[in-house]
Amino acid sequence: MDYEGIGTEARERITAAQDLPAVEALRIALLGKAGSISALLKTLGGMSPEARASEGPRIHALREGVTAALTARKDALEGAALEQRLAAERIDLTLPAPLTPRGTVHPVSQVMDELAEIFADLGFAVASGPEIEDDWHNFTALNMPESHPARAMHDTFYLEGETDDHRALLLRTHTSPVQIRSMLADGAPLRIIAPGRVYRSDSDATHTPMFHQIEGLVIDKGIHLGHLKWTLETFLKAFFERDDIVLRLRPSYFPFTEPSVEIDTGYSWQDGRRVVGGSGDAPGHSWMELLGSGMINARVLAAGGLDPDQWQGFAFGVGVDRLAMLKYGMSDLRAFFDGDARWAAHYGFAALDVPTLSAGVGARP
Ligand code: DAH
Repeated sequence: MDYEGIGTEARERITAAQDLPAVEALRIALLGKAGSISALLKTLGGMSPEARASEGPRIHALREGVTAALTARKDALEGAALEQRLAAERIDLTLPAPLTPRGTVHPVSQVMDELAEIFADLGFAVASGPEIEDDWHNFTALNMPESHPARAMHDTFYLEGETDDHRALLLRTHTSPVQIRSMLADGAPLRIIAPGRVYRSDSDATHTPMFHQIEGLVIDKGIHLGHLKWTLETFLKAFFERDDIVLRLRPSYFPFTEPSVEIDTGYSWQDGRRVVGGSGDAPGHSWMELLGSGMINARVLAAGGLDPDQWQGFAFGVGVDRLAMLKYGMSDLRAFFDGDARWAAHYGFAALDVPTLSAGVGARP
């Protein structure tokens, strides 16, 4: 039998195969169950031992040669297909691309970035905590025990179930629990801000069930109210990009601070919108409440695992949405969360408009 001739012919047909299905068809025709070379292998069984000794190696060599040719052809075709795809899908990253922005950065995100930038400059790190909190972190550790009337004022969304240590689950009503989490995780000294979503069962023109706060926390030795005032004044001047910010500190009450201070700022109406600046006592000006703050209550420090005789600190909490509205002149809070693309296009920021202190933290929409 002319095995070499059969082999040569098979290899010619394999080389001529133009695509992978053609190679596969040849494999089946040659090496499949009913394939021609498989048939040759079967003839070995009917041969005399001498014939088999001489024919066997030749038929096996034929099969191996054909198998190798099939594999080689398959690899070549696959390689060529890949090359072709790579060539077709090539993107020239050096081509000039038109800037047709789709989507914008939401004012809340923009303002949070601005705040992070301002506070980073003052040595604050950004901390975060879970939005699904437990009532110990959200209330108890912040000096609001179970019977505390302030709990009722928070219109809390409670969740079913509890933590492993039997604490009730809820959606955090403020960012203040991050104070506790930071103290427990990192100890003192501490200098953090914690921006994020908070939730209260409350909804009207100026309240949405979800809104944003930013918490500030400083713990160190010898911290006093003067540090609080300087920090807030420095922050608000940088944020509103004006030097004439005047603050009024008003005694107030929060369970987690002692003393507690409400911070008001002077403003006036210009073109139908509130513009922050000047003393609230100046002609044409008024005061508006801006944020809550105070010296951290000793019981809160203790709940955070710190010795109140050694460490002091101040904290503040402010509504991010309100800061955004004041700075960028939006009047309806609900529109923030409607997801209306026209609103986003009007009030949103370009993605590349990253706030930096040097270039200005207050790029215009
Ligand atoms: N957690 C308070 C709230 O949501 C805001 C607040 C007030 C935070 C005073 C503070 C603070 O850290 O010192 O109403």
